Amino acid sequence: MQTGLPLNEACNLQVRKLEISDKSKGFVELLQQLTVCNTISDEDFQMRFQELSSLGDDHVICVIEDTSCGKIVATGSVFIEKKFLRNCSKVGHIEDVVVDRDSRGMRLGKRVLSFLTDHARSVGCYKVILDCSNENKAFYEKCGFKRKEIQMVKYFI
Ligand SMILES: CC(C)(COP(=O)(O)OP(=O)(O)OC[C@H]1O[C@@H](n2cnc3c(N)ncnc32)[C@H](O)[C@@H]1OP(=O)(O)O)[C@@H](O)C(=O)NCCC(=O)NCCS
Repeated sequence: MQTGLPLNEACNLQVRKLEISDKSKGFVELLQQLTVCNTISDEDFQMRFQELSSLGDDHVICVIEDTSCGKIVATGSVFIEKKFLRNCSKVGHIEDVVVDRDSRGMRLGKRVLSFLTDHARSVGCYKVILDCSNENKAFYEKCGFKRKEIQMVKYFI
């Protein structure tokens, strides 16, 4: 919906955890704006949803729904890693942050990051970390992150 108003005024936004019904509200299509995400059958979606839900607070997916049109317009996830070091500390890993291309620049990304970092703090993490491209560095800095070290990867496919 493009009304010329800021999104907060133009529609109702609900920031919450992912629900199973969000598949029919464009959640998968939103992930497809981030990277390769093939069509997922209802059965596969349900199985993965239940698997992740069973992790409770250790894996949380945040979504923002535009309730005026029933569409998921932003998402991001955080996984809580339990460690032995630093007195059995915990670290939050933020992943899969994406805002619908028609809703960018309206602070929705910032709200997702805030939801995820608040969750990580509330369950006792001493830090949250994430990987990003150079072009998104400034966005994460606006969300209170700073650059540290480098990312390494080994792909299996
Ligand atoms: C990156 C992304 C999540 C940002 O979401 P967004 O809702 O458009 O960002 P916000 O409106 O919350 O921006 C918050 C602040 O960051 C700034 N910002 C956002 N994207 C930026 C960018 N690429 N470069 C510089 N600043 C940026 C905004 O201007 C805003 O600044 P302000 O608080 O001073 O006004 C969104 O552009 C997106 O989904 N991109 C495609 C997917 C992607 O790259 N995801 C990240 C994977 S690591």
